[in-house]
Amino acid sequence: MTSAVILISGRGSNLKALVEARTGLEVRAVISNRPAAKGLEWAAREGFVTRVLDHRTFATREAFDAALAAEIESHRADLVLLAGFMRIFTAAFIERFPRRILNIHPSLLPAFPGLHTHRRALEAGVKVHGATVHVVTPALDDGPIVIQGAVPVLEGDTEDSLAERVLEVEQRIYPQAVRWFVEGRVDFGAGPVVRVRGTGIGRDSLVSPRNVA
Ligand code: GRF
Repeated sequence: MTSAVILISGRGSNLKALVEARTGLEVRAVISNRPAAKGLEWAAREGFVTRVLDHRTFATREAFDAALAAEIESHRADLVLLAGFMRIFTAAFIERFPRRILNIHPSLLPAFPGLHTHRRALEAGVKVHGATVHVVTPALDDGPIVIQGAVPVLEGDTEDSLAERVLEVEQRIYPQAVRWFVEGRVDFGAGPVVRVRGTGIGRDSLVSPRNVA
């Protein structure tokens, strides 16, 4: 059974979506860098192992990353799922979990990496926005894409209304991406390509009906 630790920093809506989607994933622990993360309360109530590594108590980013990596390794999980985890990792951390860290980013990467994606999408006047599940590499929001979900930008949209529409898509595509890993259907092609067997995703197809949610 594919197992994972899930990392959160906030309310944990993506964590809930991943659990409630019953993807077949075994969640070994929910870990947060913020003691007050609301998602921790929910996870504890659901009976999950929860851990806090408060980044403010570490002298350096490297020390925090080393402690977090050790905590993650103690759970011997296959995957590390970032679900609203608001920390940037050192390359050394990422290199300890090659091709095993997934992140959900609220934009159609490579558009709008980084923060405030909805505001920037509105300022740019894009007509289509969305979310991306990608494999985490040392370059920020830049790793191989597993799945994306698109939403229209509507007349009169605010940052909040757009964020809400994108969040709905996030909570659909993240479980789908995890299901593919659980089903053992994900192959890594050379470079920035993830192939998902049986869905037409990857180098041999530009867009397949299954990978545009
Ligand atoms: C989401 O918008 C997600 O795209 C980003 O963090 C936000 C909050 O996620 N990574 P959650 O509600 O804490 O799961």
